Amino acid sequence: MMTPIWLGTSWKMNKPLSQAMAWCETLAARMPEGCHPAIQPFVIPPFTAIQPVSHFLQTHQLPLLTGAQNMHEADQGAWTGEISAAMLAETGATLVELGHSERLAAFNESDAAINRKVHSALGHGLRPLICIGDSAEEKRWQVSRESVVRQMKIALYGLSHQQALRTLIAYEPVWAIGEHGTASPQEAGVIHQALRQALCERFGHETGTRIPLLYGGSVTLQNAVELLRQQEINGLFIGRAAWDAQGYCDIVQRVTQEFILQAQ
Ligand code: PGA
Repeated sequence: MMTPIWLGTSWKMNKPLSQAMAWCETLAARMPEGCHPAIQPFVIPPFTAIQPVSHFLQTHQLPLLTGAQNMHEADQGAWTGEISAAMLAETGATLVELGHSERLAAFNESDAAINRKVHSALGHGLRPLICIGDSAEEKRWQVSRESVVRQMKIALYGLSHQQALRTLIAYEPVWAIGEHGTASPQEAGVIHQALRQALCERFGHETGTRIPLLYGGSVTLQNAVELLRQQEINGLFIGRAAWDAQGYCDIVQRVTQEFILQAQ
């Protein structure tokens, strides 16, 4: 079976419930038939909207997976304000985003903590979408590859091949997220090749080539196709350009047109 092209968005701390549901309504109107099975769409709302969004998507038979933007590594306990994998699994979420650079920077999450969260997520049947990225300074010192490979290897430490196949990796250069700047498709492609190579060294070719590698950081309708033309970019993790449902649908539509319909 062909591996799907992953196309998804995290809303970060945006969209109270009314706006979340409006996004879903627009999506349902634009994609009444869902989307081509060669695309795997997903959406990662804030915690408060995961359950209603999941329910909406299910009742409208829309094929988007839903996910959470973070979780605690423990199953339960005296962790005021935190949410566990077991709790997320009940909301309809099947993905959990871990290690986004905004969380690393603002909440001091360590590489080791991300590894513990990955194990906990898998233990509860969630697929971790692990974000890794180089800083502007690492880029300047030309150690981007070393940095992202290191982060990825720690995040995946101790996983079996079967578990590794349940993970997704998103390369998100910190210098290309938000208003900071953009990575060219070639720049992103080179890092993705290094990540693929590291995955194959760690898990062997058979498993290493099957772990989806997504790119995120200032993805737009204009650069989506060129990014996906890079050999080891298997999907896009979109922020601002997909917060408007029309924007998200436009990207899904353009990718479908370029990679699926024209190839038939
Ligand atoms: P952006 O966000 O597309 O708005 O740059 C990407 C991200 O943080 O995942």
